[in-house]
Amino acid sequence: MCGIFAVFGCGPDMETFRPHAVALSKKIRHRGPDWSGVKVCGNNVICHERLAIVGVESGAQPLTSADESLILSVNGEIYNHVTLRKLLKKEHTFKTNSDCEVILYLYEEMGLDLLKHLDGMFSFVLYDKNKDTYIAARDHVGITTLYQGWRHSDNSVWFASEMKCLSEDCDRIIAFPPGHYYNSSNGKTTQYYNPEWYAHPAKGIPAPEEEAALLSPEADAEMYASLRAALEKSVKKRLMSEVPYGVLLSGGLDSSLIASIAMRQRRSEETGSVSAEDDDDIRSAFSSSSAFPRLHSFSIGLPGSPDLAAAQKVATFLGTVHHGFTFTVEEGLDAIGEVIEHLETYDVTTIRASTPMYLLSRKIKAMGVKMVLSGEGADEIFAGYLYFHSAPSAQSLHHECITRIQNLHTSDCLRANKSTMAWGLEARVPFLDRAFLDVAMRAEYASHKLVNRAPYNHKMEKHIIRAAFDTPEDPYLPREILWRQKEQFSDGVGYSWIDRLKLHAESRVSDAAFAARAERFPVDTPATKEAYWYREKFERVFPGPQCLESVVRWIPRKDWGCSEDPSGRAQKGHVAAYEK
Ligand SMILES: *[C@@H]1O[C@H](CO)[C@@H](O)[C@H](O)[C@H]1NC(C)=O
Repeated sequence: MCGIFAVFGCGPDMETFRPHAVALSKKIRHRGPDWSGVKVCGNNVICHERLAIVGVESGAQPLTSADESLILSVNGEIYNHVTLRKLLKKEHTFKTNSDCEVILYLYEEMGLDLLKHLDGMFSFVLYDKNKDTYIAARDHVGITTLYQGWRHSDNSVWFASEMKCLSEDCDRIIAFPPGHYYNSSNGKTTQYYNPEWYAHPAKGIPAPEEEAALLSPEADAEMYASLRAALEKSVKKRLMSEVPYGVLLSGGLDSSLIASIAMRQRRSEETGSVSAEDDDDIRSAFSSSSAFPRLHSFSIGLPGSPDLAAAQKVATFLGTVHHGFTFTVEEGLDAIGEVIEHLETYDVTTIRASTPMYLLSRKIKAMGVKMVLSGEGADEIFAGYLYFHSAPSAQSLHHECITRIQNLHTSDCLRANKSTMAWGLEARVPFLDRAFLDVAMRAEYASHKLVNRAPYNHKMEKHIIRAAFDTPEDPYLPREILWRQKEQFSDGVGYSWIDRLKLHAESRVSDAAFAARAERFPVDTPATKEAYWYREKFERVFPGPQCLESVVRWIPRKDWGCSEDPSGRAQKGHVAAYEK
């Protein structure tokens, strides 16, 4: 992954503006410490800060087409780039081995239809010199971050991977909506990602009275096989890397499953069995792979935390080279200011959970690893949060899953992207693969995600994904991990982390200040001292209403008893218009 930054239509004096743009782009160099590039064309500047993982030697950006009429800056990975090249009807001379270059020629041949074909995670801006127009786009669920800003003094439009590039110059900043593109010709932002299960969420969910008739071991077996095949394929795609990579192991089910699948893939890779049904993307990925000879896994927690012990158990079982790091509460507290600066949010849950991941990412990068696989998304897809136990029906559960997936870019995707990119480490998230989502979000699976409800009476959340990988003859995971009850990341690192954060905030925010909170923070007023403390830190680095507006927060449902989470008690200040 990388950092992108672009300004379109800025004031006439480009000689002065160019060094300013370079300085702003440098603010996100942590995302791409390997190289930088700047292209100026008319009144437009397109910059790129590169983290090299695929096409390491040749893939410097911004990329340009053969005749230099298209300029492209991408943050992301396109896993099907080999297949995409075959969609091209004309001959093109590729200048690099970058997985992103194909976007230029797809655009040339099919315009915005190209977005239908991209399989991966990405944010990009593409400038078309001949038409003097540009487009910007963000991947289907917002695995990568992207912000858009406007400066009214010269009517310029700005884009950047992080808000900090825009905060000083723009009067208005938004988090760019996932699954959308922007077309400068008409100034419109349009949704391009709209799978069947988004568009018609209620379609295909059996009525409760039909459920019992549908119950069959064959149907279950088929569901489990589909889930397994889709997740294995997703992990396999994501092993495309020319540099050392590893896996994050939180000790919970989701990351453990990903680690287990990755380990199996590598084993079959070592024995030379990329199978006949594998497509060219996977063959190509494996031929260029130069990972560590053994798979490394990483975890972090307070000394004695339940997650550390569980992660170690998984690592021993799988045979990874495991690195379990500990952090002290003081180290965590010391990092809170930096975490807020990197995350660009004041959301309580996100900050709590990001801090350990932020500290861990630094350690991982220091070991020479540039990419990790991670388990985000499974709780949203499979109704893994404990409050889902109160879902009254399959319909409403399915709806809530969809809403949570649509809001991942405000929570776990934001955390995973920015905590790791703070140190130039890339996180890949197999559960959020487009094809996997299409399988896992099938309407007919919705009732299987309910807990303690007839006819299935599953005893535990995420039953179907656990059962799908419960293959005792050749186990993916130890049973006690496969069937381990959920602990949220910020709890699992050690229960005292959150308690200590709260205590610390109590000592930092006086009762008088807290009593006057609505005057100090009239918009999205913090509901707890902890929230107040984070908000204060946020506004110190990012003053101004345009920065506040860029923060999109997800407010969980209270009617299912989800309000234990302090962010859920906060006022509904900024819920983006596109949240459905
Ligand atoms: C952008 O919008 C204009 C005007 O509606 C349209 O003519 C053009 O084809 C669009 N651009 C792309 C790349 O589709």
